[in-house]
Amino acid sequence: MKLFSGSSNKPLAEDIVHHLNIPLSPVEIFLFPDGERRVRIEASVLDEDVIIVQSTSTPVDSNYMELFFLIDSAKRSGAKSITVVMPYFGYQRQDHIFRDGEAVSLDVVIKILESLGVDKVISFDLHSIKIPELFHIPIVHLSALPLFAEKIREMLRLHLNKGATFAQMFLVSPDMGGLRRIKQMSILLDEMSFVATVKNRDLNSGEIEMDTIEGTIEEGKKRALIVDDMISSGKTIVKSSELLIKSGVEEIYVFATHAIFSAEAPEILQNSPVSKVFVTDSVFIPEEKRFEKLEVISLAPEIAKALQ
Ligand code: R5P
Repeated sequence: MKLFSGSSNKPLAEDIVHHLNIPLSPVEIFLFPDGERRVRIEASVLDEDVIIVQSTSTPVDSNYMELFFLIDSAKRSGAKSITVVMPYFGYQRQDHIFRDGEAVSLDVVIKILESLGVDKVISFDLHSIKIPELFHIPIVHLSALPLFAEKIREMLRLHLNKGATFAQMFLVSPDMGGLRRIKQMSILLDEMSFVATVKNRDLNSGEIEMDTIEGTIEEGKKRALIVDDMISSGKTIVKSSELLIKSGVEEIYVFATHAIFSAEAPEILQNSPVSKVFVTDSVFIPEEKRFEKLEVISLAPEIAKALQ
């Protein structure tokens, strides 16, 4: 097995090879002044199982192009099989037509991956449960939810002497689309109760309105655990947490798999009512986007397990 990394999330790839106890195979990625890339794998892959790690986060299109070239170079060099580990799968939000005339961007990138000869894809917490159906090759759909559940139990152990109990906690989906996810999380946490804040987003301006809660916050529930698949602008989390505070909640923790963190997300999350934001390293978070309330949980052990 040979594992190569694109340039979007090399620290994660390094962590994965550490768990697999193999070296990271070298690649040369040369950027021409006009933005084009020349990609070359620098290890023999003849008859080898090749793994390519690349998250297609910002800059999405460049990261995709780099991935396509890495796949092509492995294929042309005689790889036996190619597995793409894409912890964050770019364009997953455009998985169907929302308004007449739109492209299904996700379907386009899947078709390209398939036509390049990818044998298998490994990804985490895809935006919709239907997404794997768009693939004609095997896709291993993993989730960070068990890691988040483990973190919640650990937090509780640390908080016990401060009076926090399991009974005071409840789960929150920040929109109705996340209900399936929140139900899964509830199962992982001994049927913990849950509600959803109802989100309406203007598709043209991107602005969000949130003023109702679906479900009842039971008596004594003071600590909310918001669970989402991704944080992009951060507006969903901020609006949801403001509504929860207005409804009498005292403490809020956020768990989101993909830290896209576009625009002012780090700043607005740091200044929001939430106490802590837990994300994974599915997307590399540069130093300038890290903030005090942020804690990153690594997916590397899960990915290494899936590759063994
Ligand atoms: C939406 O359906 C997703 O699950 C996330 O809630 C959304 O993408 C977060 O976006 P933002 O951080 O820009 O509000």
